[in-house]
Amino acid sequence: MIGHTACVGGSVSADIVLNNLKNIERKPQNLVKALRVAQEVKGYLPAEVVEAAAKHVGVPYSRAFNVATFYHLFSIEPLGKYRVFVCMGTTCYLKGNKENLQYLKSLLNIKEGQHTSSDGLFTVEEMRCLGCCSHAPVIAVYMPNGARKVIGRATPEVIQKLIDELRKEARERGWVK
Ligand code: FES
Repeated sequence: MIGHTACVGGSVSADIVLNNLKNIERKPQNLVKALRVAQEVKGYLPAEVVEAAAKHVGVPYSRAFNVATFYHLFSIEPLGKYRVFVCMGTTCYLKGNKENLQYLKSLLNIKEGQHTSSDGLFTVEEMRCLGCCSHAPVIAVYMPNGARKVIGRATPEVIQKLIDELRKEARERGWVK
C-alpha cells in the first residue's frame, strides 16, 4: 500500500539516517523496515540513504535499490508536501483518468519525466487500482499529516477545486506565499 510520509527533501545526512536505524535489528528481512524509517527521517530515498539502509541490514545496494523503486511506499526523488496518486487501473483509465492525469500535470506545470511541482508542494504519481472502482475515476491525496483523502468521480473541475483548496491550506501554513 502507499506510504504516509510526505515531506520536501531536507538536508538530513546519511549519518542521521544511520542513527535512526540503530534500533532496527541488522538482518536482511528488515530491509523494508529500514527503508521505511530512512524515508521517514530523510523524506525520500536518495542513493546514499538507500546504501546506508542496505549496509545496516546486510544486503547489496542493488537489492535495496530494487525494493526502493518497486513499492509506491518509497520514493527516490524528493516528495511534495501533498502526494497525489492518480489511479490508472482499467476502470479509472477508461473513465477519464488518462485525461485527468494530463490535466493535473499541466495545472501544476509538471513536465514530462518529472513528478513534483517546482514549488515543492505537489508530487503526482500513477497507481494501480485503489479498490473503489465504483467511484471511478479516482484520485487519492496523501496529506502531510499522513491522512488519505480519496476523491471519486474526478473531473478537471474537481481537480482544479482540490488543488485550489490544498494551495490555500499550504499558504495558511506558510509553506508558500
Ligand atoms: S480502477 Fe481505479 S479504483 Fe479500481
